[in-house]
Amino acid sequence: MRPITVALAKGRLARKSMEMFGQIGISVEEMNDPSCRKLIFENKEAGMRFFLAKASDVPTYVEYGAADIGIVGYDTILEEDRKLYEVLDLGFGKCRMCVCGPASAADYLRHNELIRVATKYPKIARDYFYNKKHQTVELIKLNGSIELAPIVGLSEVIVDIVETGTTLRENGLDVLEVVCPLSARMVVNQVSMKLENERISALIQACRKVIKA
Ligand code: PRP
Repeated sequence: MRPITVALAKGRLARKSMEMFGQIGISVEEMNDPSCRKLIFENKEAGMRFFLAKASDVPTYVEYGAADIGIVGYDTILEEDRKLYEVLDLGFGKCRMCVCGPASAADYLRHNELIRVATKYPKIARDYFYNKKHQTVELIKLNGSIELAPIVGLSEVIVDIVETGTTLRENGLDVLEVVCPLSARMVVNQVSMKLENERISALIQACRKVIKA
C-alpha cells in the first residue's frame, strides 16, 4: 500500500503535530531524538510517511502532490496562497497577525498615511492595507527579526506574528491593529483527497476527535 505522506513545518509545529499523531496511535520513535538530522521518517505499519520542511515550503509540497497532507500555520497558508484543501484547524500554534509599531505610529494608521510597512508576509500585509483598509503603503519584505525595522527607522510599522507579546514589549513596540487570528491547519492535496479519500477522511476524523478531547 502506498504510504500517505505528511509534510510538517519543522520546529514546534512538527513536534505538536507528532504529539497529535501519537494520540491516534501513529508515532515514529526516531522523530523524538533531538540529535537526529533525518528529514524523512516512515511508520510502515501505519502506512504513513512524515517529512520536515521549512514552513513556507509546506504548501508547495502539498500543492504539487509530493505530500498528500501538510501541517502548517494559517499565516503561511494565506501568504503562499496555493491550491489546496484546508480541512482542519488543529487548535495549537495559536497566535495573531498584527500591525505593530511604536505607540506614536497609531496616528499614521488612523489617517491612512503613506507609510512604510516591513514584513515577512507581503501578501497578507498588502491584502490588509489595500483591500481591507484602503490605505496605500510601501511594503518592504524582510526575512526575520522584523521588530528591528521600526526601531532603526526602516519602516513606520510592521506586520508580524505576535504570540506572547514578549518580543514587542522588550523592544518598546505595541500591537496597533489585529489583522487575523492564526493557528496550525491541516491541508490536503486536491487529487489525494479524491484518490485516497477513505484513508485521508479517516485520519481527519481521528485527529478531529483528539483535538476536541
Ligand atoms: C516570531 C515573530 C515575532 C515573535 C513573536 O518570530 O516574528 O518576532 O515570534 O513571539 P512573541 O510574541 O511570543 O514574542 P520567530 O521567532 O519565528 O523569528 P523571526 O524573527 O525569524 O520571524
